[in-house]
Amino acid sequence: MTDSLTRSADSGIDVEVITIGTDAPGPTLADDLVAGFERTPKSLPPKYFYDEHGSALFDRICDTPEYYPTRTEDAVLHECAPEVLARHPAEHIIELGSGTSRKTRRLLDACERTGLAPRYWPLDVCPEVVREAGATLRSEYPWLGVTGLAGDYLGGLDTLPAPPGRRLYVFLGGTLGNFTADESVAFLADLARCMQPGDALLLGVDRVKDPQVLEAAYDDAAGVTAAFNLNLLNVLNRELGADFPLDAFRHRARYDREQQRIEMYLDAQRAFSVQVPALERSWEFAAGESILTEISRKFTPADIEEELSRAGLSLDTAFEPDNGYFSLLLARPAAGTRD
Ligand code: SAH
Ligand code: AVI
Repeated sequence: MTDSLTRSADSGIDVEVITIGTDAPGPTLADDLVAGFERTPKSLPPKYFYDEHGSALFDRICDTPEYYPTRTEDAVLHECAPEVLARHPAEHIIELGSGTSRKTRRLLDACERTGLAPRYWPLDVCPEVVREAGATLRSEYPWLGVTGLAGDYLGGLDTLPAPPGRRLYVFLGGTLGNFTADESVAFLADLARCMQPGDALLLGVDRVKDPQVLEAAYDDAAGVTAAFNLNLLNVLNRELGADFPLDAFRHRARYDREQQRIEMYLDAQRAFSVQVPALERSWEFAAGESILTEISRKFTPADIEEELSRAGLSLDTAFEPDNGYFSLLLARPAAGTRD
């Protein structure tokens, strides 16, 4: 944990937000751009979507009629939260990629009903969203202690606070699907190493389903997902002084059945050259060339059990709606797998 500490008075409430990071910082945006643009197709990691504007756009995606994951997971969480907390009466809830923490309320409501008062530790790469979500939750749940964490969970979870007491790690939204299978297992294994034998993980994953439903979810009619995707170019222009012409790109989402994943692209509509002054470099784009900006893998129950098991975690309970659109999994460190 670094010693950088900020306080916010949003909603008139102070929330402590601690910046966490490793001693050996990972790749910067500039590094990721250079590495990603070496590939075919050119690609960028999805974490750069989430500046303050991108986080707000993601929240709007969650309210589009096509984007079923949020409302589906919310409904499952509403149903299963009492059982999750009965199985695992958490003293700390540590949420990775918490965003606006909108669904976490389901857990907090169940805590309130059962007299549990855990401390909440939301971690997100977007500090503004952590500060605002923390302040909002503190105003809604006056008993709730919140310590916000700003940082990159890909930089290693070794700098995550490890408060004494039973911890429930939470990773919702299907965000695990934004990793490749190998990245996912590495991430879950990293998380398993942070866990004590008495801790648990509540993991939300999106499921394989009708490709039409999937493609619509990632290309909503109101164009919110398109704006979210294009905002990545605003981030590059602002942070690196680049001159990506936003009007030259079009958003595209396709489902790859074989790889069981949505792929989101920005397709260049014409040829042009992009200057990136911060790197003293330029790149040529051909008409029709694409940037792969996100993958979003979809799981079968067997897929996710396999990834959990490869990471040293074992499934305790699975919760899902009748249509099988989404899964919430309660998992624990597998016995005898710790070094
Ligand atoms: N958990 C929320 C938000 C999901 S959106 C939900 O289920 O609705 C993904 C969230 O993860 C965003 O808030 C984004 O800022 C955060 N995120 C993405 N990459 C991250 C990273 N590398 N480290 C920390 N947070 C990250
Ligand atoms: C955060 N993540 C799980 C979302 C998803 O569904 O893959 C991000 C997103 N991209 C477009 N729409 C939503």
